[in-house]
Parts: sequence; C-alpha cells; structure tokens
Amino acid sequence: MRVLVTGGAGYIGSHGARALKRRGHEVVIYDNFNTGHRELAQGFELIEGNVGDAFTLARALRDIDAVMHFAAHSLVGESVQNPRKYFENNVGDGLVLLNTCVECGVHKFIFSSTAAVYGNPREVPIAEDAPKQPVNPYGFSKLSFEYAMQSYDPAYGLRFMSLRYFNAAGCDESGEIGELHDPETHLIPAALQSATGARNELQIFGDDYQTPDGTCIRDYIHVDDLAEAHVLALEHLAAGGASNILNLGTGKGHTVKEVVTTIERVIGRELPKRIVGRRPGDPPVLLADPSRAEKMLGWKATRSLEQMVASAWKFHQLRSRARAV
Ligand SMILES: NC(=O)c1ccc[n+]([C@@H]2O[C@H](COP(=O)([O-])OP(=O)(O)OC[C@H]3O[C@@H](n4cnc5c(N)ncnc54)[C@H](O)[C@@H]3O)[C@@H](O)[C@H]2O)c1
Repeated sequence: MRVLVTGGAGYIGSHGARALKRRGHEVVIYDNFNTGHRELAQGFELIEGNVGDAFTLARALRDIDAVMHFAAHSLVGESVQNPRKYFENNVGDGLVLLNTCVECGVHKFIFSSTAAVYGNPREVPIAEDAPKQPVNPYGFSKLSFEYAMQSYDPAYGLRFMSLRYFNAAGCDESGEIGELHDPETHLIPAALQSATGARNELQIFGDDYQTPDGTCIRDYIHVDDLAEAHVLALEHLAAGGASNILNLGTGKGHTVKEVVTTIERVIGRELPKRIVGRRPGDPPVLLADPSRAEKMLGWKATRSLEQMVASAWKFHQLRSRARAV
C-alpha cells in the first residue's frame, strides 16, 4: 500500500513510517514541522504541509491507499492554557483531512488516539468500553475526533482504527530516530536530560499515592511495539476488517520510582532527582487492557521497560555525540 503518514516527522509517526517501510509499504510523510524534525523524516518522500490545507492535501492524496494520522498537538498542560490551539489543530484541521480523504476516495484511516480519553478511570485495567471522561482539552479533542470517525463510517464508508496509546516510550533500536519534544514532559527522556545535564534535576510528582512505593503507576509501551500495531491495524482494514477502537499498552504497570531505578541501572549512575508535590489531574494508576488488540490483530507488546530505557539512552548518546562534532 502507499500510505500518507501525517506527523511522520514527529516521535511516534517517524517510527510508524519505518515500520511501514519494513513491511514493504510505500510511505509519504506529510508534516508542517510544527513540532517535527527533518532528521526524523530522512529517507522518506516528504510533503511539507498542514493537515488543515485541503488544496495541498488533495494533491498529496491522489495516489494514496490509506492514511496514518499522527499529526496533532499533545501537551496536556498547554491544552488547558490554550484549548483553542488544540481544538483548531486536533479537531478542525483533522476534519479537513478526514473530509479530503472521503472526497479523494481514501477510505482506510488509522488514528493516534490516547488513554487521555478515559480521564480518571473508575477501574483498572481500562477496557475500550470504559467511561470516556477526559479531564483536559487535549483528551476532549481526541475523543471528538473519534466521534467524527464513528459518524463518517456508516455515512461515507470511512473505515478507521482508533488506537488509544498509553505511555509511548523508547526509540528505534537503530538509535537513529527518537523522542525530541520541546518542552519534554515524558518521564524517560526527561530523566535522561537530567543525566546529561540538559536539565538540572528530575522532578517526581508526588510519592504519597496509594501505590506500593507511593509514586504513580503507568503502562509504558515501546514505540516500536506501537508502530508494529499500526501496520497490523492497517493490514486488518485492507483485508476487509471493520472499524474499531483499540487500546495499545502492555497491561503491566511500573511506578515512577521503578522507571527511575531502571534508568539508573542502564546508565550506570544515580540521577539528580527530587520529590515535589502531586501534579493536578494525575490519576494514581493508568493501565491498559490490551486484550482486544491482541485478539483482533494477533499483536502483543513484547519489548521490556529495560529495552525502552536502553534504546532511548542510545539515541540520546548518539545525538549528543553528533552535535558535539
Ligand atoms: N507520545 C505519547 O506518549 C502519546 C500518547 C498518546 C497519544 N499520542 C498521540 O500520538 C501522536 C504523535 O505524538 P508524538 O509524541 O509523536 O508527537 P510529536 O509532536 O513528536 O509529533 C507530531 C507531529 O505532527 C506534526 N503536526 C502537528 N500538527 C500538524 C498539522 N496541522 N499539519 C501537519 N503536521 C502537523 C508535527 O510537526 C510533528 O511532526 C499525536 O497525535 C499524539 O496526540 C502520543
């Protein structure tokens, strides 16, 4: 298949593009470089454009079989300060993409959704039919887009897979691509920044939760496991499979302290770190029930937390060396 990958110059999209290529699909990356990086899109056909630009999109979609839509804004805190930015990009511009796909006859669509659609869950692990009660505009914007896809399926024949990621982590084993967010709000790259001196210390938000060591539990999933699930989801649609919504996680949780200990073991030294107050809106435990994805796609996340940390560390080191030359 020839696949348009929006947001393919970003962290997860660049891994999705490589996973598609490894399976023999053709990839065209479509990105406006808002938060993306040219180095992550290297080696791919590239169209620079905004998903809200129907004219450029219609030309880009001419010979395309399917779309993987990673492009979005995804900083929870920023979405609270500036919800307009999130609804404009994640919903408004996203709808331009969806409409242009329908008009151009592109009916296979894979969407990057998020565990943020569940808000503070009543029970864990979280299954797909658990209540959807986002607690921030980012989560609302992603849920709104899911509702649009659910309405477009019976009306226009759009077939979609909405993939709700839990905590994406790690990097491709090559060390060539990885996580480059600015500001970095994710635990593992933020901790590695504190290891290299790029940030003064790692802040741990709260150690008084009802968990074994008092810190929050999250479901970390290796980005290459995520990327492979995208390819399988697409192939499922191509084989005539129906639209669906799938959680992507491992089903196993790690506390923040466990992640920090793993990082310290992998890099061989202690991190500068400090316990600070809880961050508003952080549930104590978020865990996926990934059984629907396993059943439907024959997929299972296989990579360990150790592999996530080691691959992220390799990317950080290679990048700092390359910048030093
Ligand atoms: N990182 C995570 O743990 C996580 C968890 C759940 C969901 N997600 C979702 O996964 C997707 C990718 O996240 P990421 O961490 O790779 O983010 P990222 O910021 O690294 O990548 C997003 C990419 O989309 C591009 N983009 C944004 N708006 C665009 C637009 N209007 N037109 C064209 N390109 C545009 C950016 O330039 C960037 O290259 C997002 O949809 C995000 O909401 C991420």
